[in-house]
Parts: sequence; structure tokens; C-alpha cells
Amino acid sequence: MNKNIVILISGRGSNMEAIVRSAIPGAHIAAVIANRPDAAGLDFANRHGIATAVVDHKAYANRETFDAALAEAIDTHAPHLVVLAGFMRVLTARFVAHYTGRLINIHPSLLPAFPGLHTHARALESGVKLHGASVHFVTADLDCGPIIIQAAVPVRDDDDEQSLAARVLAQEHRIYPQTVRWFVDDRVVLVDGRARVTNGQSGAEGWTVPLTEADSP
Ligand code: GRF
Repeated sequence: MNKNIVILISGRGSNMEAIVRSAIPGAHIAAVIANRPDAAGLDFANRHGIATAVVDHKAYANRETFDAALAEAIDTHAPHLVVLAGFMRVLTARFVAHYTGRLINIHPSLLPAFPGLHTHARALESGVKLHGASVHFVTADLDCGPIIIQAAVPVRDDDDEQSLAARVLAQEHRIYPQTVRWFVDDRVVLVDGRARVTNGQSGAEGWTVPLTEADSP
């Protein structure tokens, strides 16, 4: 049976695009939902025949009513997995609890370093030599849920925010489709509050797969 995937975006949607283009066997991209009517990624989804919807946060008085409307739009598609792909809204604890174990996010840093915004500038400022991206389960605490996969990239001496962001984004486009693939194959499990990726055979023992940039210097 296909698994229904609902992807939430706020803007460009390049991670959503990477997931769609991966054409993951067993994954049905049921809908792409944006909180902004001008989210550029909606065009791509429409052109690919994917159902789209906008739940404009500006039309709601507070987070609770927005999240309730958003959940209603999502649940129309009976999702097995809800994927936050550059979705720039803080979600209520109630919303997060409703999707426990089936709500994931991608964050452009090696968590727990640099939660929140402006991660690339902060990485440069702090002088770290490795930076990257993390896919994690969403919990009520921002950017704090169990980490499923990370990809690391080197920080080069001549990097600026743009060059570093581009290097990280290339890895995001690799690890996010990979994560969705693991979900579709029932390979992601939560054990004692930690995410494990099983080998798909024993189902018992698992491991997370560290990735590093293939062409590191
Ligand atoms: C990505 O860097 C993602 O990690 C962060 O926001 C950005 C969204 O980019 N949460 P896109 O909309 O997927 O192109």
C-alpha cells in the first residue's frame, strides 16, 4: 500500500522538489500545503499534478486557530508522514502531539548546534570547521526532536553565507528524500526517545547513517 505524504512549505520549496523528483517507490505525495499564497514551490507542485492548498496564517487570529485549520487541511489527505520543508511557522504543542512519530523537519545545521534562524551566518561567525543539515522528528521544543540523519560539510576559509548555504542545501536534497524512503520502508523507529534506522530485515537493531560530503578536500 502506498504511504500518503503531505509536504508543508513556506517559500522556494527546493526540498519538496527534491523529494518529488526522487519518485520514491511506495510514496504518494498526496499534497503540498503552504502558509503563504505566494510560496514559489506551489507552482512546481501544480505543474506536477500534485494537490496544493494554502492555509494563510495571516487569516487567523492566533497560532491555535491557524494550527487547527492547517491540521484539518492536512488530515483530508490521511497522511502517514507530514514533512516540513522550509515551513517557517512555530507549531503548537497540540498540533505536534497530533502528529507524533509522523512529523519531520529539516534544519540547516548540525543540531543541536545552531537551532533557530541564520544558521549559516552563525556557523561562520563561530568558526566551526564542520557544518551541515539535520532531519529530525518534530517535538514541541523548536529544532530539538530526535535526529534521524545528518550530513556534514566542511566550512572553507573563503566561504561566505551564500557559498556555505549552497553546500549545505545540496546535502539537504540528498538526506531528505533518503529519510522519506526510510519511512516508506518502515525503517525509522523511535527507541527511548532516539531515532534509529533499522536495516529493514531484522527490524530490531538499527543504526543512524552518518554522511559526509563526498568531495571534501
Ligand atoms: C532549507 O535550508 C531548510 O533546511 C530550512 O529552510 C530552507 C528551505 O529551503 N528549514 P526550500 O524552501 O526547501 O528550498
